[in-house]
Amino acid sequence: MALDLDPGSAATGNAQLVRAIIEEMDGSAIPFERFMELALCHPEHGYYRTPGRIGPGGDFLTSPRIHPMFGWSIAAWAHWSWETLGKPEPFTVFEPGAGEGYLATAMLDWAWGRDEEFAKALRYVAIEPGARGSDSRVTWAAPPIQPAEHGLVVTNEFFDALPVRLFDATSRGPQEVYVRWNGESFEEVAGPIANIPEAPSDGRFEVNVRAFATMTELSALVEQGAVLTFDYGYPREELWAPWRTQGTLLCFYRHTSHHNPYIHVGDQDMTAHVDFTELEAALDSAGYATFGPVSQTVFLYALGGQQLVEAVRQDLQEYFARRRALEQLTDSAGLGRVRVLAGLRGIDSTPPGFEDGL
Ligand SMILES: C[S@@+](CC[C@H](N)C(=O)[O-])C[C@H]1O[C@@H](n2cnc3c(N)ncnc32)[C@H](O)[C@@H]1O
Repeated sequence: MALDLDPGSAATGNAQLVRAIIEEMDGSAIPFERFMELALCHPEHGYYRTPGRIGPGGDFLTSPRIHPMFGWSIAAWAHWSWETLGKPEPFTVFEPGAGEGYLATAMLDWAWGRDEEFAKALRYVAIEPGARGSDSRVTWAAPPIQPAEHGLVVTNEFFDALPVRLFDATSRGPQEVYVRWNGESFEEVAGPIANIPEAPSDGRFEVNVRAFATMTELSALVEQGAVLTFDYGYPREELWAPWRTQGTLLCFYRHTSHHNPYIHVGDQDMTAHVDFTELEAALDSAGYATFGPVSQTVFLYALGGQQLVEAVRQDLQEYFARRRALEQLTDSAGLGRVRVLAGLRGIDSTPPGFEDGL
């Protein structure tokens, strides 16, 4: 006798998460932004609550997972900031969205390997709701975070993971996308019309309403020092260019990207490109001088990425590992498209990596 084997709502993704979202919907629709927040950050079942999402066995790769040389480069940049500030102690590195702490470990290793005085001055605070790292040199923290007098706030692929509001341009104005459960799957429904100055007049677009406030909060974490942000994104005019009619929302499942946020719910990453104009404006209004955004490629080569490869010519295994890593980190079709934005407060110089302003 054949049975009905259809798993019902469990076919949509993580069964417990799908159930939790349906319960919150309570028969009506919720804004896409809330759907994305639950899918990624539900306190128990959200996508980021499970370790192993980033890396060869997960769904996507980030720069810290490619090779420690990414973190070494940022450590050298932090060292420059520390020296330029007059070697204050302590010098605190805050890393929101630190994931499993790969960047932290690489930076701390560089510090201990290169300059004991710097290493001893360094405090590393990883801000991550999941708090899964195991490096005992790192303090894992959740807001509210105690600000520091001197330091660096560094983020990698943090802002592009924040939930976004989704809109469809209509003749009446931007109409927000809402999501409901139709008994078998999640589906989109049209929400209210919004008033968004200079919004695209065609197609779909996202608004990351949290970016400005979040950057403002982060910029308050250090009184004097730097903010260094790595993310996929564009200045506003490029993000909302008339030819971009599908928006930038992307999902990643087992190293394949696609555009459907309503499958593999809680088992796939979701990301939307960052509006760098917003991030710059937030830094600017917090009294930071801003630099960039430049591409990760420009940044890493300017800092000396190639020299880091050439330095180990005698050790062929490490040489090829670094060479391959630099290729991946600067690949114009991949991580090389990440942009780097810096802000400095209390430092009156152009930071390394931004001299050419490209
Ligand atoms: C795309 S992952 C990047 C992880 C890591 N930075 C890397 O490059 O491998 C985004 C990270 O941001 C974290 N995250 C999301 N919202 C956050 C928030 N409000 N505060 C702190 N971390 C957050 C997620 O848990 C996740 O670890």
